[in-house]
Amino acid sequence: MRIVVVSNRLPFVIVPAPDGGWVVEPGSGGLVTALRPVLENRHGCWIGWTGATNEEVPRAGEILANPENRFGFELVPVTLTASERDDFYFGFSNEILWPLFHDQPSVCRFEPRFWLAYEAVNRMFAETTAARVGPDDFIWVHDYHLMAMAGKLRAMGVRSRIAFFLHIPFPPLDMFVKLPWRFHLLRALIEYDLIGFQTARDRRNFFQCVRALLRGARILSQGPVATVHLHDRHIRVGVFPISIDFSEFARRASEEQAMAKARNLRADEPDRKIVLGVDRLDYTKGIPEKLNAFRSMLRRFPDLKGRVTLIQVVVPSREEIPGYLEQKTTIERLVSEINGEFTRSGWVPIHYIYRGLDAMRLPAYYLAADVALVTPLKDGMNLVAKEYCACRVDEQGSLVLSEFAGAAAQLQHGAFLVNPFDVEGVAGALGRACQLPSEEQRSRMRRLRKAVRDYDIYRWMDAFLEAAIAKDLSDFPKNHEAIPEVVFS
Ligand code: G6P
Repeated sequence: MRIVVVSNRLPFVIVPAPDGGWVVEPGSGGLVTALRPVLENRHGCWIGWTGATNEEVPRAGEILANPENRFGFELVPVTLTASERDDFYFGFSNEILWPLFHDQPSVCRFEPRFWLAYEAVNRMFAETTAARVGPDDFIWVHDYHLMAMAGKLRAMGVRSRIAFFLHIPFPPLDMFVKLPWRFHLLRALIEYDLIGFQTARDRRNFFQCVRALLRGARILSQGPVATVHLHDRHIRVGVFPISIDFSEFARRASEEQAMAKARNLRADEPDRKIVLGVDRLDYTKGIPEKLNAFRSMLRRFPDLKGRVTLIQVVVPSREEIPGYLEQKTTIERLVSEINGEFTRSGWVPIHYIYRGLDAMRLPAYYLAADVALVTPLKDGMNLVAKEYCACRVDEQGSLVLSEFAGAAAQLQHGAFLVNPFDVEGVAGALGRACQLPSEEQRSRMRRLRKAVRDYDIYRWMDAFLEAAIAKDLSDFPKNHEAIPEVVFS
């Protein structure tokens, strides 16, 4: 069985070379780390967009086919024109599905032409895929950009097994029904043989939509993987919380270089607690709410003035979409207001970094931080929370985590769970986390690390592949216990 992975973005980017040509470099993201050995051993391939338009990089296919750019498995580019990028990627994917699935319908732009582009680009991805698969291959499609692909592949006569994993949340029925193309999209999803969600909450929402919108559908629950029966189709639906390469993060955090950098960061903030936020620029990440909570903490606990510093890293993203630039302006205004209110000689309360941190620096920041403050308003999983735990090889540090991050289901027993909309509640939890005795940090961090270690990215991949391939689900998978739901307290 060969595996064909399809995602909107390839795990590699094409960037201009100093000599005027192009070079291929690894992109960010842990998915490729887990999939790479399977793709290499099974001569698999990865189909996706390069992130540039035809106009920007005219010969992406040739560049990726160049033997100098070999990565052990085949990379197949799908090319988009500028208008396809605008209507499919920015438009339907990021101005309709992204906000709607993150419970923010007022941000949606329900433009009919966006749907047409979504259909057309999903068909294009399907054509590229159909040209490369045989009946025994396994097609694994990722994320909200490509929910309509399976139906197109079937219409092209593809008989392979096709599975889908949604990296973002699936919305509740009341939210989903606002989508003008709700029936089309739900029926399109049902064309997959296996659908994977991040959390039990997402699967529950999906079942609610299936029951309400698909007449005749029956849901049979068989533990971690249930089945939807509709006419003659049987679709498996499971919960697979995505994770990280735990050992690799722990290894990087144990290197002398990372430890030395962490010591330097700490030395820059003598006798102070460091609170760290690392978020992609996005209105779902709750960055303004987090800044308000930090301000509220400084007002409520005057003793903490001069004793706590927030380092907030914001990774640039989707800046072409107006909502993202507005978010950036709001964040920067708040940072300067708070710094203006509290800065005193020798202490600036918020250090704001507007760029990504590389693979060496990130573990150092995690190691230096007394508290990681991860408070998205809604998030499919949130890997920053897991990376922080993996990097705390010293079993110190505290995690303040949003109840609405997918990661909360697995990390609820060691983290301080908070409602990110409750500014006072977050301020209180942050104050407590900053003053947590070392022994309690250790016992919480041990639980957190165990949860991340026990269900790492490799376990995630094995569970998903087993659910896709197993003939009989009755004993699936031997040691795959049900993933709990968040308990609100
Ligand atoms: C989220 C999505 C991914 C996406 C990433 C970065 O994590 O689930 O599919 O690749 O954001 O966003 P971008 O729009 O830059 O691909």
